[in-house]
Amino acid sequence: MQTERLADDPTGHARAAAILQNGGLVAFPTETVYGLGGDARNDLAVARIFEAKGRPRFNPLIVHVASVKAAQEFVEWPFEADVLAQAFWPGPLTLVLPLRPDAGLSPLVTADLPTLAIRVPAHPVAQALLAAFGGPVAAPSANPSGRISPTTAEHVLAGLSGRIEAVLDGGACVVGVESTILGLDGVPTLLRPGGLPVEEVEAALHDRVLHHAANDPLNAPGQMASHYAPGAKVRLEATDKHEGEVLLGFGPVESDLNLSPAGDMVEAAANLFHHLHALDACGADVIAVSPIPETGLGRAINDRLRRAAAPRP
Ligand code: TXA
Ligand code: MG
Repeated sequence: MQTERLADDPTGHARAAAILQNGGLVAFPTETVYGLGGDARNDLAVARIFEAKGRPRFNPLIVHVASVKAAQEFVEWPFEADVLAQAFWPGPLTLVLPLRPDAGLSPLVTADLPTLAIRVPAHPVAQALLAAFGGPVAAPSANPSGRISPTTAEHVLAGLSGRIEAVLDGGACVVGVESTILGLDGVPTLLRPGGLPVEEVEAALHDRVLHHAANDPLNAPGQMASHYAPGAKVRLEATDKHEGEVLLGFGPVESDLNLSPAGDMVEAAANLFHHLHALDACGADVIAVSPIPETGLGRAINDRLRRAAAPRP
């Protein structure tokens, strides 16, 4: 794949929006760092974000929207959200709020959590893209997993050229570090320090917020096994189906549901949470899962499946 470099003009914005509408990936500037955007409602697009980055785990992603009104379509909206959005949006603050049941987002975006991280970016190019696209854009930083976040289109191309459809070039990012993430699904809690000083958040709320230590597992929701556990037990590396089990297949095997009969990792990732929910809803005691190769997105899929299969607290 040849990665297009799109100019910051109406033609470039329209082209970027069309790529997103077709399920493609576009890196775009925000005031913090460049994001790797995909349609947050499209399972395959979101799965491709993880693949393009080579992310070994399905960390939940931040959804970018154009306005407070747009955000309210996807999340519950407590009083503190109103105060903080008034004060700091558009800007480098991400709010983690309860996901609305009718949000219509891919479950890969939230890694199947009941909360959603959402923000309204201030960068005019990000705003232009969101306006032209007209929907929610899921975007982690546009760097290969484990590398530093990109603050220019050149950084993005150095890391992801050939793996994404396009980069929208809006020059260098002014903030240069990722957004501050504040959890608002309970007591206001700093989940990640970032581009907006937490003191400013506390001043706006007229209150201190909880600070999580850097090594607190709550900082990394993807680490918490129970979030991914279905009601049924999970048996991995299943090459056959025992009495009372349902089989979640991968590749050309006879199964109750199949992540990807063709053995395609992107398709499998896109289907993972949907199929686990569907099989759990059948009321089976055990979901057996075919072996999945530990390569590419398979590592992320296996990571989530191992958490689902781990002994429950
Ligand atoms: O500035 C930024 O925030 C950039 C630009 C592109 O917007 N994005 C960014 O995304 O830094 P990423 O994927 O690199 O970091 C997202 C962080 C992860 O640490 C993830 O665990 C956390 O947000 N996160 C996402 N959803 C969450 C949720 N529901 N609860 C708690 N943390 C969440
Ligand atoms: Mg990142």
